[in-house]
Amino acid sequence: MSTATSASPSAAEANFARGLEGVIAGETNICSVEQGKLIYRGFEIHDLAEHATFEEVAFLLLEGHKPSADELRRFKIEVIAERALPAEVIAFLKSCGPMIKSGAAVPMDIVRTAVSILGNLDKDAQDNSPAANLRKAKRLLAKIPTIIGHMQNVIDGRAIIAPDTGGDATLSHAANLLYLMSGEKPSKEFEHVIDVSLILYAEHDYNASTFTSRVIAGTLSDMHGAVTGGIAALKGPLHGGANEMAMEMLKEIMRDVGEKGIGTPAVDSWMQNAFDTKRKLMGFGHRVYKNGDHRAPILHKLGRSLASKDTRNPGGHAAAKWFDLGEQVQKIMLDKKKIHPNVDFPCGLTYFTLGIPVPQYTPIFVASRVSGWCAHIMEQHANNRIIRPLSLYRGPAETKWNK
Ligand code: CMC
Repeated sequence: MSTATSASPSAAEANFARGLEGVIAGETNICSVEQGKLIYRGFEIHDLAEHATFEEVAFLLLEGHKPSADELRRFKIEVIAERALPAEVIAFLKSCGPMIKSGAAVPMDIVRTAVSILGNLDKDAQDNSPAANLRKAKRLLAKIPTIIGHMQNVIDGRAIIAPDTGGDATLSHAANLLYLMSGEKPSKEFEHVIDVSLILYAEHDYNASTFTSRVIAGTLSDMHGAVTGGIAALKGPLHGGANEMAMEMLKEIMRDVGEKGIGTPAVDSWMQNAFDTKRKLMGFGHRVYKNGDHRAPILHKLGRSLASKDTRNPGGHAAAKWFDLGEQVQKIMLDKKKIHPNVDFPCGLTYFTLGIPVPQYTPIFVASRVSGWCAHIMEQHANNRIIRPLSLYRGPAETKWNK
């Protein structure tokens, strides 16, 4: 028997949508996600990927309009000035090596905790006013790449790069992220590919992590708490964690079929076995985009072009071989299941080609999506009503404690 909390049972059954599929749960001026188009504040994603930089997109999301040249210049100065981390966060990151090595924590957990500590140290932490929220959003945007970079230095056992400044002030957001992680200033092409990936990842309306952030903000809780919750939601393999899992899956196929198996029926057999065992293939499918994710071909094209020229042999095979395998997997998935890749599939391949360690793929997603989360948190605070839906009760019928 099922009854509903404060709605008639039949109305509740009729209104119930598992996983909130198709439910319009709120309003937004920030982003529109439709099969036909993906729009950030009026600008279409192909247009942004081709003509904007991540800094411009972050400004657009946070401030609500396209920046003038002067606004952009000032925004960049403000963000660059906020890149360095407080000593307490650096101390935490310096201690994170054993946690990661033991398997207790993964980089997404470290980023989540570091952001939470930042909240404990931010003088604006308890102030939800629009001005304080904007200041906090810029600090988070600036500091998350530094968290990722310092953490990677600790994992690699090297001295932390630029602890006093959080990087090189002459570098863009994308280039500085790669520099902080490796100590090497990236080529223009690597910088461009990361920059576009950050644009593609920046915003996606009421996706699970953004919705989580809005639910937290909707109780009038603070921005750092809402972003911390967003990070926890993004970590899951059905959401942002899929970019890491997509690459792990490709590595598994490569191990099983070998490089010589690429382009042969060995991959079809591997996939058939996955279908027979009802395995979810990571980096495929989407709640909204049933006919393809706008972002996936943009990143695939860039990553493929990079891989075709790459001589670095990631994972012991030429980078282009990984794309050959990925394209074969995509084709089988489409032919057999009619399921398209989402942005996380080419992202996995592209970041792998760039030589980025796999456990940092989702943290890099955080470095981008924080701009969207903060825009939504500000929008929620500016026009708030607590988010409190109903559920369908399917538990036991009422009974007496003392029978
Ligand atoms: N592999 C195998 N089958 C799939 C997949 C997949 N990746 N995605 C969907 N299906 C099947 C699903 O099992 C279902 O089949 P059936 O009707 O026989 O039960 C059918 O397709 C319809 O899918 P759905 O379960 O209604 O899809 P959903 O809207 O509930 O879930 C999803 C969407 C993204 C969670 C799901 O497609 C999935 O788990 N994909 C793999 C994880 C992934 O790549 N996540 C990234 C999402 S997009 C970007 C981001 O958030 O980072």
